Amino acid sequence: MKFFIDTADVREIKDLAATGMVDGVTTNPSLIAKSGRNILEVIAEICGVVDGPVSAEVTATQYEDMLVEGRKLAKIADNVAVKVPLTWAGLKTCKTLSDDGIMVNVTLCFSSAQALLAAKAGATFISPFVGRLDDIATDGMELIAEIRQIYDNYEALTTEILVASVRHPRHVVDAAKLGADVATLPPAVLRALASHPLTDRGLEAFLADWAKTGQSIL
Ligand code: E4P
Repeated sequence: MKFFIDTADVREIKDLAATGMVDGVTTNPSLIAKSGRNILEVIAEICGVVDGPVSAEVTATQYEDMLVEGRKLAKIADNVAVKVPLTWAGLKTCKTLSDDGIMVNVTLCFSSAQALLAAKAGATFISPFVGRLDDIATDGMELIAEIRQIYDNYEALTTEILVASVRHPRHVVDAAKLGADVATLPPAVLRALASHPLTDRGLEAFLADWAKTGQSIL
């Protein structure tokens, strides 16, 4: 399973990329706004740090304007994946850009019917938002299972399932069990994956015993 990191904070991306855990990056207009930086500049910088796909989202709502924005974003670097919303204009933009050989991430997916449309439009990635579904008392993971089943029924549907709106490590584990291709994680969730109280307690005990020996390996 690939891990993308869901942030436009370049310092965080550099730090986590050094661990070998970052296969790509996702951003959205809210994350760009939070970074306080110009979208073209920050996406270019991220593309210089990470070799894998870096999602940059269009903000136009009409097909013609989405296409102009998408092409402009795609020109930043070869590893840009243009992110479009799951609307008919977004699907049409997805079809045009993917026919041109540009990676497309279709975002704001909340149903398997929507995921089917995105795959037929040639999306490289579909982004179902599990956390936001959980927020309204709907099981986000059921959506991942349904999309996995549908895509696996048809060889021609090669779109990768990119689990988004991930809120905690359990989401990551459940997505991996279901065979999702990618999960995009906020930095805090990626860090939390390594945490276990028994690891902390075990290390504490080892270090206490080691201190008694008076030895040093350094
Ligand atoms: C990533 O592509 C999505 O935009 C992001 O995961 C949404 O997460 P949120 O629901 O926590 O805002």
